[in-house]
Amino acid sequence: AIERTLSIIKPDAVGKNAIGAIFSRFEAAGLTIVATKMKHLSQAEAEGFYAEHRERGFFNDLVAFMTSGPVVVSALQGENAVLAHRDILGATNPKDAAPGTIRADFAVSIDENAAHGSDSTTSAAREIGYFFSELEVFARTR
Ligand code: CMP
Repeated sequence: AIERTLSIIKPDAVGKNAIGAIFSRFEAAGLTIVATKMKHLSQAEAEGFYAEHRERGFFNDLVAFMTSGPVVVSALQGENAVLAHRDILGATNPKDAAPGTIRADFAVSIDENAAHGSDSTTSAAREIGYFFSELEVFARTR
């Protein structure tokens, strides 16, 4: 089915000047960027986005990292977009990420792992709505 998913290029990858390289991989995988913006998250915005991880030991470090510099948030659309996006990102820990995946190529650690992708269509709907209004998401027309 055609799905949408939320993608974040994290501060480490933005700092490596890799926005375009990562966008190219989305497009090469058949995903269309239907919304995008660059944003420096506030502490409250990062905490709200990652609310499901609030009780995890890594939560404070995660929020500190995600607010350390600008990120690029995008909504991607395509066939099976949630899994297709996660496949090209590779495993959360870049040490486990398959060769040729975004995390294998751009990330150094599980904390600074280059990119985030929604883990289900349910979280995708919440995460896209967290950053974009309906009018900011452009349905693919051709
Ligand atoms: P992300 O997909 O953005 O979702 C939560 C982030 O927490 C994850 O990527 C990692 O960057 C970070 N993180 C740090 N430690 C862990 C861990 N042990 N398990 C899962 N995520 C972790």
